[in-house]
Amino acid sequence: MTSPISTEVRDGILIVTSNNPPVNALGAAVRQGLAAALDQLESDNELKAAVIRCEGRTFFAGADITEFGKPMVEPVLPQLIERLENSKKPIVAAIHGTALGGGLETALGCHYRVAVPSAKLGVPEVKLGLLPGGGGTQRLPRVAGIETAAEMCATGNPISAKKAAEVGLVDKVAGEDTLLEDALAFATGMIGTEPRRSGEMPVHGDPAFIQKFATENARKFRGFDAPAANLRCVQAAVELSLKEGLAFERQEFMKLMMGTQSAAQRHIFFAERQAAKIDGIADDIKLRDVKKVGVIGAGTMGGGISMNFLQAGIPVTIVEAAQENLDRGVGVIRKNYDASAAKGRFKPEQVDQMMGLLAPTLKVEDLADCDLIIEAIFENMDVKKEMFGKLDKIAKPGAILASNTSYLDINAIASVTSRPQDVLGMHFFSPANVMKLLEVVRGAKTADDVLATAMAIAKKIGKVAVVAGVCDGFIGNRMLKPRQLEAMNLLMEGATPQQIDKVHVDFGMPMGPFQMSDLAGVDIGWHRDPARIESVRDALCAVGRWGQKTGKGFYDYDEKRRPTPSTEVQAIIDDFAAKAGKTKRAISDEEIVERTLYTMVNEGALILEEGVAQRASDVDVVWIYGYGWPVYRGGPMFWADIEGNDKIAAGLEKHGFKVAKLLKEKAESKGRFTRPV
Ligand code: 3HC
Repeated sequence: MTSPISTEVRDGILIVTSNNPPVNALGAAVRQGLAAALDQLESDNELKAAVIRCEGRTFFAGADITEFGKPMVEPVLPQLIERLENSKKPIVAAIHGTALGGGLETALGCHYRVAVPSAKLGVPEVKLGLLPGGGGTQRLPRVAGIETAAEMCATGNPISAKKAAEVGLVDKVAGEDTLLEDALAFATGMIGTEPRRSGEMPVHGDPAFIQKFATENARKFRGFDAPAANLRCVQAAVELSLKEGLAFERQEFMKLMMGTQSAAQRHIFFAERQAAKIDGIADDIKLRDVKKVGVIGAGTMGGGISMNFLQAGIPVTIVEAAQENLDRGVGVIRKNYDASAAKGRFKPEQVDQMMGLLAPTLKVEDLADCDLIIEAIFENMDVKKEMFGKLDKIAKPGAILASNTSYLDINAIASVTSRPQDVLGMHFFSPANVMKLLEVVRGAKTADDVLATAMAIAKKIGKVAVVAGVCDGFIGNRMLKPRQLEAMNLLMEGATPQQIDKVHVDFGMPMGPFQMSDLAGVDIGWHRDPARIESVRDALCAVGRWGQKTGKGFYDYDEKRRPTPSTEVQAIIDDFAAKAGKTKRAISDEEIVERTLYTMVNEGALILEEGVAQRASDVDVVWIYGYGWPVYRGGPMFWADIEGNDKIAAGLEKHGFKVAKLLKEKAESKGRFTRPV
C-alpha cells in the first residue's frame, strides 16, 4: 500500500506532504509516514529544514476518530509530536483549511506555523468528550497564553488565522494562494538557527482566568466531564513541568477516552454524518435545482423557515392571507435580524441584503416560479389539503411541494395533488431559524431525487436532517407522546410536576415535561371549551393556566418568569386523582425514569421495527438536535445500549408495558441498537 505521506526536496528543504482524504486525519499510516520523513530529515545532512503540508481541502483535521478504542499502533501521536519538537532542524507547519485537534497539536510540535488567512485553528476534542491528548493542553498555554488556551480547550471553538497570529499561535499569515512558497521562505530564514520549541516556552497569562472561565460557563458545561478535565490540564501546565504536565494530560485523556460520555459524543459525531445518507439512494443522484423558495404562512414557523434560506442567500417569496399578518411576519423577521446585527452576528448591510431577498405577497399565484414551496399554515388536514390542491394548479412542473406539518399524514396531503412524487414533509423545529433539526418526511410516493434534494438543501441551510417515514408525529413527536402520557399518569399517582421535571433536568435535559408544556403553551391542541373538563390539562386551561404566556401553567410564574410550585395545580391534580379512585403513593425517581424514559426507548424500537427511521442513530440525532437530549448520553437508543436493553425491557414489564419486539430481541441477545464506538 502506498503511504499517504510523500516527500520532495527543494533548495535543502524537505517538503513533507500528506494526502489522506477527506480530511487528512492522522491515522496510523500518516503517523508512520511522518516518522519516516523525520528519519529522512535527521539522516540526510543536505537537508536543512522541513515544511509539513497537506493536500486536499484541509491540514490535518485531527486524530483518526475511527481508531479510538482499538489497539494503538506506533508511533502514537504524542511520541510523533515529541520527535517533531526535538528535531534539531527547523520544521514549519503550512496550514490551510482546518488544523484541528491532533492536527493543531502536530503543528504545535513543529517549531513554526504559517497559515493562510482563511485557515481555522482549534482543539475540538471537548466536543467529542475528550481533551487534546497530544500535548495540546500543555503547549497551547505556552504558545498562545493561558486565556486563549483555556477557552479553546474548554469550548472546542476554533479561532481564525488572524486571531491565531495575534496570540502567537501563527508566526506568519501567508497569501491565500502562496502558502507553500511563503512557508518555504519562512523555513529558509530559519536555516541554521536553533529551533524554537513550544514545550520550552514559559507559560504566560493570568492563571486566575481558568477558574473564572469555569465559573462563568458553569451552566453551559453542566453535566459534561470533558470541559473541567480540559481546564484541569491547562491548570497543570501552569503548575507542573512539561514532562509532568504531559503525563497528567495523558492520564486525564485516557480516563475520558474510556468513559461513556466520550463514547456517546463520538457516536453522535458519526450519527450526524450518517443521517445525511439515504438507504437505497445513490450518493450521486441528480438533484433538482433549488434557486427560489416559497413559504406559505408568515407566522412564527413560516418566518423562521424563511430566515434559513435568506441567510443562505436563497430568495424567498412569503405568502400570507391578510396584509396585517404579512406585515407583522415580515416585521418580526426584520426585528430578529436587527437584534442579531446588534449582537455583531451580521453587519447591517448583510441584514439589508437578506431582507432584499424576501418578497412578501398576498397571492399564492406568486409562487409559480418557486423550485421549493414549504407550507407552514394551520395544523389541520382539510386546510392543508385545500392548500395543496391550489398549489398543484399553480406550482411549476418539477417544483418540490413540502409541508411543515409536525404530525399529519403526508400521503393524504400528497393525494390531493396530481404529483404525489413531488410532495414530502419538511418538519422544522421551533424556533426554526435556530433549531438544527429537520425531519424530512418521505411519503409513499415521494421520488428519490425529491428526497435527496430536500436533504441537500437542508445541509445548505445548516440543518442536521433526518429522514422519517409517515406516521403520527414522525420520529420526535411520536416518542414525546408516551413520555408526556406517563408524566401525567405519574401526577395522578402521587408524583409532583416539580419532582418529574427535576428527574429530567438531573438527567441532563434542558427542561422537564411540565416546564416544556408551560413554555410551549398548555393550551396547544385544547378544545377551547372551558365547560368541558375531562383531564387535568382541560382544568388548567379552563382557569387560564395556559403556561408562561399567561403567567401560570403547571407552575406559577413571577414577572421574571421564575417558576414556583402551584397549590392551585396540586388541588386540581388531587381532585382528579380522587375522582379516578387513585390512591396516592410516594413515587421514586427511578420509577419516573422507567416510565418516562424507558417508554421512549420502547417507542423508538417500534419506530425502527416499522422502518419509520432508517437507523437507531437517526433516532438519537432527532432527540439531540430537536429536543435537547444531553449529547453526553448519546441519544435515547445509545443510552439504552449503555443502560442495558435487558434492564430497559425488565423495567417496562415491571410497570405493565408491552415491550416492542425489537427491544425484546435486543434484551434477550444482550444486543445493541447502535454500533459500539
Ligand atoms: N477522524 C476520522 N474521520 C473523520 C475525522 C476524524 N478526525 N474528521 C472527519 N472525518 C470524516 C467524517 O466522518 C466524514 O466521513 P463520511 O464522509 O464517511 O461521513 C468525512 O471525514 C468528512 O467529514 P465532514 O462531513 O465532517 O466534512 P466537513 O467538510 O463538513 O468538515 C471537518 C470537515 C471540519 C474537519 C469536520 O469533519 C470535523 O470537525 N472533524 C472532526 C475534527 C475533530 O474533532 N478533531 C479532533 C479529533 S480527536 C483528536 O485529535 C485527539 C487528539 O487530541 C489526541
